[in-house]
Amino acid sequence: MNPRRFIINRSADRPLTDSPGRFPVPRNLGLSGPSRVGKGKRWPAPEDAKDPLTLSIYRYEPGIDEHPRLDHYTIDVDKCGPMLLDALIYIKNHIDSTLTFRRSCREGVCGSCAMNINGRNWLACTQPIEELRQPVHIYPLPSLPVIKDLVGDQTHVLAQYQSIRPWMRNESPAPPDRERLQSPEDRAKLDGLYECILCFCCTSGCPSHWWNGERFLGPATLLQAYRWLADSRDEATGERLDELEDPFKVYRCHTILNCTRTCPKGLAPATAIAKIKQMLFLRKI
Ligand code: SF4
Ligand code: SF4
Ligand code: FES
Repeated sequence: MNPRRFIINRSADRPLTDSPGRFPVPRNLGLSGPSRVGKGKRWPAPEDAKDPLTLSIYRYEPGIDEHPRLDHYTIDVDKCGPMLLDALIYIKNHIDSTLTFRRSCREGVCGSCAMNINGRNWLACTQPIEELRQPVHIYPLPSLPVIKDLVGDQTHVLAQYQSIRPWMRNESPAPPDRERLQSPEDRAKLDGLYECILCFCCTSGCPSHWWNGERFLGPATLLQAYRWLADSRDEATGERLDELEDPFKVYRCHTILNCTRTCPKGLAPATAIAKIKQMLFLRKI
């Protein structure tokens, strides 16, 4: 049997059966087009294909297409690299140049290629093709308005990120010829926070952000907010907490944990949010 046809669990703590992939994400949630996804085109396997694989990919260009559709591309995975992003690049280069998606680093560090893969928000460049169960369905991140195909509009979530002023606020004059130092213990407090690549897989998968996205900041922005609250070099802790003290900005997190389950970097935004709530509480007593 072809090993590509096996379903392989990513790891014991990320079972596919318990992933947000099984959470009933409304497919058209937040999409700017009609909800019905129609039948699309089919590109058959090349005659000499040794290892055919069919990818069903969401296609939609608002203002041009009346309805979204699913196009089905059968490729020979022997001819492309091992990751899903390699397959998408192969389709764009050799089959259909109109297919649109974001990518940059191809190494899981830029966050550009986040998309919904078989129902789970993940990075296409860190998703091995051989781990995908068949058939493979690829959609844009839910809840972001579609710009085209797999490209979601991040204007709102980036504005939310900008709203927390994600840079070091420090009024103390730094020694002129060296960086601001931290003890190893203080530096370790940033582990699990600084690794965030702002892919927005978590925010896009957060039910509270679907319903209250205008006012709830969402897990990506809140993890970043805690990243600065936890930084010993930052001197604006009180100011930052004042800015977060709001019925919606933080407290609309109901600890559903979709964010932590779907983070492709293995981070825990829900824990960061809980720590912000704890800081907000402790300063009142
Ligand atoms: S916390 Fe994880 S899922 Fe959320 S933006 Fe950062 S890297 Fe992406
Ligand atoms: S834990 Fe909070 S931020 Fe994370 S998915 Fe649930 S409601 Fe959203
Ligand atoms: S291309 Fe940069 S994270 Fe995938």
